[in-house]
Amino acid sequence: MLYYFKELTSTIDEARDGRYVHGDVVVAELQTAGRGQRGKKWSSATGENLTFSVVLDTSFLRVEEQFGVLQSVALALTDMFAGYGIDARIKWTNDIYVGDRKIVGVLIDHSLGADGMLVRSGAGIGINVNQKRFDEWLPNPTSMALETGREYDRREVLERFCAKLAERFETLKTGDREALQRDYHSKIYRLDTPARFALPDGTEFTGTIRGVGPGGELAVESHDGIKNYLYREVSFII
Ligand code: BTN
Repeated sequence: MLYYFKELTSTIDEARDGRYVHGDVVVAELQTAGRGQRGKKWSSATGENLTFSVVLDTSFLRVEEQFGVLQSVALALTDMFAGYGIDARIKWTNDIYVGDRKIVGVLIDHSLGADGMLVRSGAGIGINVNQKRFDEWLPNPTSMALETGREYDRREVLERFCAKLAERFETLKTGDREALQRDYHSKIYRLDTPARFALPDGTEFTGTIRGVGPGGELAVESHDGIKNYLYREVSFII
C-alpha cells in the first residue's frame, strides 16, 4: 500500500513503524530531516522529486547476505530508468548515476534479529525527478528532467519502480541470485575504466574497478594488483 504524507522528518523513521508491512511504500512530499549517507542530509525540492521508503520483509536473508537487498533496489532503479530511455549506472555502493552525475540516493535501514538473520529492511530512496536547480553545495546532481528535457509524472515513476523492485526482489528471494549478481556487475559505474580513487588518509591513486563481490566489496586493480575495499575504505574522485 502507498502511504502518502505531506511532511515527515524522514520516511526512514516512519517506515520503521511496525504497522507497515512488506511492500508498503511511505512517501513524503517534504522531509524536514531527510538523511543521506555518511551522516549527510538529503535535500530535495518539495513537490518536484520522490522521497520515499519501501518496507521489505528480508527475514529470509542472513545478515551477511544483506548486500542482496541493495542489489535488488539498485537494479530495479536502473531497470526503471531504462524504461524511460535513461542509461543509469550503479555507483558503488549506494548511488545511481547518469554519466558523472547523481540522480538517486539510496539509504537502507536494516533491522537485525538475534539469530543472525535480517528481520526487515526499509529502502529509503530519493529520486531526482523534475528538479532542475539544485543547492550549490551539492557536488554533481542531476534529475530525470535535466537528462531528458521533459517532466515526469512522479506517481507513474514510483509505480514503475515498485513493479521493477517486486521482480528483482522475487529473484533475490526465490530465483537465481547469480543472475542478479551478473546484472549488477553489468551496471557498475566506471567498470573496467581507469579512474582516480582516494583512501581515507587522503592518498590518491589510479585504479580500475573489476567488479563488486557478493558481499558488496569493491575490487579495484592498481599497480600493485587487485584489492577489495569495503564501504568507506575507498572513495571515487569525480
Ligand atoms: C545518499 O546520501 O545518497 C542517500 C540518500 C537517501 C535519501 C532518501 S530520501 C527518502 C529516504 N529518507 C531519508 O531521510 N533518506 C532517504
